[in-house]
Amino acid sequence: MNLGSRSEVKALIKSGRILVNKERVLRPDLKVDEESVVISYQGREYRYRPFVYYMMNKPAGVLCATRDSSCRTVLSLFMEQCGPANGGELSGIPVQDIFPVGRLDKDTVGLLLLTNDGELAHRLLSPRFHVPKTYYVETDFPLPAEKAAALEAGVDIGDKEPTRKAVVTPLADLSCTITITEGRFHQVKRMFQTQGLTVTYLKRLSMGGLALDPGLSEGQIRELTKEEVDLLWQKTC
Ligand code: URA
Repeated sequence: MNLGSRSEVKALIKSGRILVNKERVLRPDLKVDEESVVISYQGREYRYRPFVYYMMNKPAGVLCATRDSSCRTVLSLFMEQCGPANGGELSGIPVQDIFPVGRLDKDTVGLLLLTNDGELAHRLLSPRFHVPKTYYVETDFPLPAEKAAALEAGVDIGDKEPTRKAVVTPLADLSCTITITEGRFHQVKRMFQTQGLTVTYLKRLSMGGLALDPGLSEGQIRELTKEEVDLLWQKTC
C-alpha cells in the first residue's frame, strides 16, 4: 500500500505507530482480514484493495496501448493524472498492472475502462458473453432506413462470419447510435463502409451496464464507484 518496504513497515509496527482497526499493534505477524481491515498511520487510513477500476473519456490522438515509443498512450495519460506521483490512490498496486479493457482506435473518443482486474476484462471482452457496446456515430452521408436495417441484421465485413445483430438508432441526418455485441477490429467503421459510408466521428457511450459519465470531459479520468463496478458484472444479454 505504498507505506514502505517490508522491513520499514515491520519497524513502524514495532515502534507502535501503526493502528489496526483503531488499536495499536506491535506484532508484525498479526493476522488480519484483508477485506475489512483498516490500517491507520499518522492519521491516515489505508484500506487494502486488490483491484482498481477507472473510467476514462478517451480523447482523440491517444493510442489505446500501454506503451509506444512515439505516440501518447492511454497509460501515459493515466499516469499523468492518477499515478502515485500525482497523488493517485492506487493502494500500492503497481501501475504497470493496469491496462485498458479493449481497444479504441486512435481517433475514437469516449468510454474506456482501465483496471488491473483480468477476470472482469475477460468477462467484458470475451466473444462468449456478447457484452453490448453503444457508440455515437457521425457519417459523411445520411444513413437511409434500408442501410440501417442491413447494419442491424448483420453485414459481411470480410471476416469468417457476418457481424451479429446490432441496434441502430437514427439521431439526425448524419448521426446515429449503434449497439454491437462484439469487438472486432475497426468493427463500426467497417460495418458502415459496407454501406458506402465513412465514419467521420466515433464515440463510445457505454459498455455493458456502464455509461460514460457526461460530466467527464475528454482526457479526464475518474475511479468507478462500487455500484458501477457491480453494473459491469451484471449479465446484459
Ligand atoms: N469500432 C471502430 O471502428 N473503432 C473503434 O474504435 C471502436 C469500434
